[in-house]
Amino acid sequence: MQAILLVGGQGTRLRPLTIATPKPMLPVAGFPCTSHQIALAQRAGVDRIILGTSYRAEVFEEYFNNQSEVSVDIHYAVETEPLGTGGAIRNAAQYLTCGPDEPVLIFNGDVLTGLDIEALVSKWREANADVALYLTRVEDPRAYGLVPTDDQGRVLAFKEKPTTPEEIVTDQINAGCYVFKRSVIDRIPEGQVVSVERETFPQLLESNATVIGVVDEGYWLDLGTPLAFAKGSADLVRGIAPSPLLENRTGEAVIHETAKVHESATVVGGTYVGANVVIAENAVVESSVIYDGVFIAADARVTRSIVSSDASVGAHSSITDTVIAENASLGAHNELNSGARVFPGAEIPDSAVRFSSDR
Ligand code: GTP
Repeated sequence: MQAILLVGGQGTRLRPLTIATPKPMLPVAGFPCTSHQIALAQRAGVDRIILGTSYRAEVFEEYFNNQSEVSVDIHYAVETEPLGTGGAIRNAAQYLTCGPDEPVLIFNGDVLTGLDIEALVSKWREANADVALYLTRVEDPRAYGLVPTDDQGRVLAFKEKPTTPEEIVTDQINAGCYVFKRSVIDRIPEGQVVSVERETFPQLLESNATVIGVVDEGYWLDLGTPLAFAKGSADLVRGIAPSPLLENRTGEAVIHETAKVHESATVVGGTYVGANVVIAENAVVESSVIYDGVFIAADARVTRSIVSSDASVGAHSSITDTVIAENASLGAHNELNSGARVFPGAEIPDSAVRFSSDR
């Protein structure tokens, strides 16, 4: 089977982490989300993968030419102007070599999942479907695309981001992974901006195509926001989220062998600690993502936060639900909370900030 991964988005909700690195390439528990997805696809028998890139396209090629965690035939379909999700799928199709009736697996680049891909493909085959969508159930579907189905699994409608209670007709949402019949991809208009969610899917329903939804009850998380990203990483580290790259993990932290964690420091809650990190005396790091070369000073507290490469957190500082971008330095005795974001290279002096939206 062949697959297309959509990895060309700007990742605006994850700025400033995505200024230099596209969202699907930000390491989650040590590997880019794209690597976790490729490993999952490979395990289901995918042997040719096309990355639909646009924003920071060069980062993907540089990485996959030099990594060792996945070995699959990767091709790059680069959009000079972003074509939207549907346009990107159509553009990537130029590198498919399968026949018109063959299945093509498609993944959004920021989805962390343990989806049973083979089951999804089987359902697509059994229904002789044009498209099978992976659906997941969420408690609050307002931020997502709702996909109600009938009792045979046929999709009844696509309702993007409902705003009124009447519009919330189901808890099933589009989980960002599909199986398309190749010929359906070839009918998407070429060289145009097309949204698969807002245009292609509704048009398929209008034309009476067979579009089915398959609910998978396994792990699913959209890594689009900093809070979700830190949670996804922690879930991978603790073995709550599955990945073929981290089989049977159950520990409280993954700490790179070159990191130096002081014996009085506490690193828990699924924290990932990258290469050459230093965590000093009595620091407490919980459910966080600490990228390579970070320095966390004595008595600092880091909770559900992302600290990017070569950044530092000063002594007695406390950060919660915060993003510190690469090379930024937060001085001592600062407090950042609830969605604070420090930009790359920013320098915050000692005792300069007490930011909390709770106050
Ligand atoms: P936000 O800007 O934070 O919403 O993130 P995003 O840019 O990733 O957008 P979104 O999460 O809606 O995109 C869903 C998936 O489609 C992501 O994996 C994106 O990388 C991908 N994507 C979105 N737009 C394009 C595009 O124009 N071209 C390509 N190749 N991929 C896209």
